[in-house]
Amino acid sequence: MKVLVIGSGGREHALCWKLRQSPLLTELFCAPGNPGIAQVADRVPFGPEEIHELAGFAEELGVELTVVGPELPLTLGLVDEFERRGLPVFGPRKAAAELEGSKIFAKEFMGRHGIPTAEFALARDRAEAERAVRALGLPVVLKADGLAAGKGVIIVRAAAELAPALSLFFDERRFGVAGDRIVVERCLEGEEVSFLALVDGERMLPFATARDYKRLLEGDEGPNTGGMGAHSPSGLLTSAQAAEVLEKVMRPAVAGMAEENRIFRGVLYAGLMLTADGPRVLEFNARFGDPETQALLLRMEDDLLPLLADGAAGAFSATRLHFRKEAAAVVVLASRGYPEKAVKGEPILGFDEAAAIPGAVVFHAGTEEVGGQVVAAGGRVVNVGATGPDLGSALRTAYAAAARVDWPSKIYRADIGRPFLERSFPTLETGSFNIKDLKLDAPPPPDGDDTDH
Ligand code: AMP
Ligand code: GLY
Repeated sequence: MKVLVIGSGGREHALCWKLRQSPLLTELFCAPGNPGIAQVADRVPFGPEEIHELAGFAEELGVELTVVGPELPLTLGLVDEFERRGLPVFGPRKAAAELEGSKIFAKEFMGRHGIPTAEFALARDRAEAERAVRALGLPVVLKADGLAAGKGVIIVRAAAELAPALSLFFDERRFGVAGDRIVVERCLEGEEVSFLALVDGERMLPFATARDYKRLLEGDEGPNTGGMGAHSPSGLLTSAQAAEVLEKVMRPAVAGMAEENRIFRGVLYAGLMLTADGPRVLEFNARFGDPETQALLLRMEDDLLPLLADGAAGAFSATRLHFRKEAAAVVVLASRGYPEKAVKGEPILGFDEAAAIPGAVVFHAGTEEVGGQVVAAGGRVVNVGATGPDLGSALRTAYAAAARVDWPSKIYRADIGRPFLERSFPTLETGSFNIKDLKLDAPPPPDGDDTDH
């Protein structure tokens, strides 16, 4: 099968790395890819937003499956265009990608379908926002309505922080039109977990759980980023809680989208806060999470290719996903200045030394080749992943590899996974779930082969 992956980050490198292992694969292309991806796929010189060029390429080369990494092409209607041309593609159409593309749509959608989320108000200007803050009481969270690469969220804890935060949206217009309207929502307390599932429009194949570390600095301080590290399992959800998430969040979301004529096909990703009152949705994404996907794919036993091909055709034949009973950890190496303005252009050394560590896998995220050298070209530059029998050993291997990849402005968090090292991991059953039923499909076999822990 000829496959095209769209995107150029660590997530896409992990997707290409995983798809490359499929016996069904004949050719693998990635647009635009990066120097790491070039080791497993042929690069195609189109950006993710060049929808017509990408569709033309897929048509010409007879691509049999296209997999979309980032959110932008989804919200621009890439899937609609590919489908119009009869090209198989795994991802939501524009109308379904709205679940990620507009936080206001997502909040109102959750309201219509009884999906638990923080209380909120929407604001179009400073006065409306101030009124909403008075009604909700501090602390509050301000969120740009549109896409902002995970950076359009500001938590306001003290009254003095409100005016400068509102200025970012309404005066400085830091987020452009994405911040024309904002969501003002109640600040929730608890731990965060990422819950992803492959969705074919009707059925859902949940992934093992993952935890993402969104803040730039150790101890969960500093600004929000796209994600500074991840591990799977999350170490946070028991099987009862996972079943609750499927029942109260994932099932009504897939069913609700179908009901509203926005049938959802692709990866549905719920960012959840586990509060004292149960799980609450912080956001939906309409795609694979980055860097959660790197951790999840490192543990995944199944051949990803037929799963995505079935999903693109609108009907899974598999009933569940399988994950190795081990832990995977991913450490993001970024460049100083991220998430604002990262230092670029510095040569990176040590890729081979890092990859030589048993159990370690190096994914390129924001790299570029200049004059035969790989240089840092983005905020998040390299992801170092590792698996191990438990989270501690996966982390040790990942950090050993992280130390070998080096450039002058490298920064990273040294505390990924630290809060969980002392805990024992709860057991999570990953089942297949049909929205027409009210319960999980068949329970896992008694030998526990399909148990994620
Ligand atoms: P989002 O892009 O909506 O997931 O928000 C990014 C990050 O901001 C989340 O991962 C949380 O860490 C934080 N956040 C978002 N909404 C809330 C909330 N209502 N309460 C507390 N933290 C939040
Ligand atoms: N890691 C968070 C995201 O992919 O949105």
